Amino acid sequence: MPSGGTLSGNNILVLNGSPRKQGNTVSLANRFSAGAKGVGAQVDMIYLHGLDIRPCDACNFCQEGGNGCVITDDMQEIYPKLRAADVIVIACPVYWFSLPSQIKLCIDRWYALETPEESVFKGKSLALLMVYGDADLYSSGGIIYTLDGICRYEEMTFDGIVHGTALDPGDAEKNPQLIEQAFLLGKKLGAFS
Ligand SMILES: Cc1cc2nc3c(=O)[nH]c(=O)nc-3n(C[C@H](O)[C@H](O)[C@H](O)COP(=O)(O)O)c2cc1C
Repeated sequence: MPSGGTLSGNNILVLNGSPRKQGNTVSLANRFSAGAKGVGAQVDMIYLHGLDIRPCDACNFCQEGGNGCVITDDMQEIYPKLRAADVIVIACPVYWFSLPSQIKLCIDRWYALETPEESVFKGKSLALLMVYGDADLYSSGGIIYTLDGICRYEEMTFDGIVHGTALDPGDAEKNPQLIEQAFLLGKKLGAFS
């Protein structure tokens, strides 16, 4: 059984990087979550926007002795959830061809969980739910490339990507195929493999 799993399904942490509480990202994240919960997964969704998450200051304290991150902000509550998760889901809009800063700030701070003593991420699953205003994926930048690099470096498995065009709040909901893909990915990653 995966490390943080419940008896019936995976332990999933969704990091939602959109500032919109009723936007397209949350539409995908909610459907993903419904699919995962339907097969017994435990899903924790964190809205990063508005949390106090400061940038990594590269002090390297976390790398010397494995005593965690010295910055006392909201990441301290997210670290144990990252540790416990079997599956980490990045849910976000494309901003300027890249990750929104809400997500990037959080990922930079993962550094404290990747030390000479341990790699917390090794063996976990990563998935991406992504929306963008442009017409296609190619013109919407390098998020997939970035996350693929993280997975290779951390020995995580990149287990699913759902992406689609959605500019204004409500657009994702008008695309049933997109919403269904999020549900099906939740179903797939919610169950033990
Ligand atoms: C600051 C900002 C930058 C954006 N940059 C891009 C971009 O580079 N490419 C793109 O296709 N859409 C871009 N968009 C559009 C968003 O990705 C799109 O509106 C998305 O649906 C927002 O998701 P949300 O409703 O979950 O907030 C940008 C939007 C904002 C506010």
